[in-house]
Amino acid sequence: GSWYDADIDRVIITEEQIREKTAELAKQVSADHADSTGGLLLVCVLKGAVMFMADFARALGRYGPPTEMEFMAVSSYGQGTTSSGVVRILKDLDRDIAGKHVIVVEDIVDSGLTLSWLLKYLESRSAASVEVVALFRKPDAVKVHVPVKYVGFEIPSEFVVGYGLDYSERYRELPYVGVLKKDVYARS
Ligand code: PRP
Ligand code: MN
Ligand code: MG
Repeated sequence: GSWYDADIDRVIITEEQIREKTAELAKQVSADHADSTGGLLLVCVLKGAVMFMADFARALGRYGPPTEMEFMAVSSYGQGTTSSGVVRILKDLDRDIAGKHVIVVEDIVDSGLTLSWLLKYLESRSAASVEVVALFRKPDAVKVHVPVKYVGFEIPSEFVVGYGLDYSERYRELPYVGVLKKDVYARS
């Protein structure tokens, strides 16, 4: 087992399920953008989306259209388990996205705060279109009306880690997604 197994209450999404779903999402996005001659600009929301970006971009690469990549880093959770309500840009886009067809690549939509803020931000930068692919979504996300065109898995409202998702910067490297034992965050 992994170093972290003792901290994980149970696995909710396996490595295999993530792989299959990522391929499915890539096929859908590809089919919907088959006539996209200018290609797509994938905007990865660091740090959480790092694993999904790498796997999703590769999966999309099998089908097309061609993609370019940009990386933004934003944070709303800091060290806690609930959103602070304030989204901070830790790393901005490197170049102009005006006229580009953007797909935001996000690991999870929870309160929806990060994404609704980000969508406004990208639209203010004059993207031609902005769509979202998120691997996971929690039930609270329906309260904020943030349009997520492609969703991998609807998951329960529990604090989950792995496959990019962290608790206090840890557990991102787990290949699966699991529920973190409550005593792990009650400790601090
Ligand atoms: C997490 C996650 C999403 C966001 C979702 O990021 O990766 O980006 O929170 O939550 P929300 O819908 O309630 O806004 P976090 O702020 O923890 O930064 P990180 O990606 O660097 O871990
Ligand atoms: Mn994030
Ligand atoms: Mg985080």
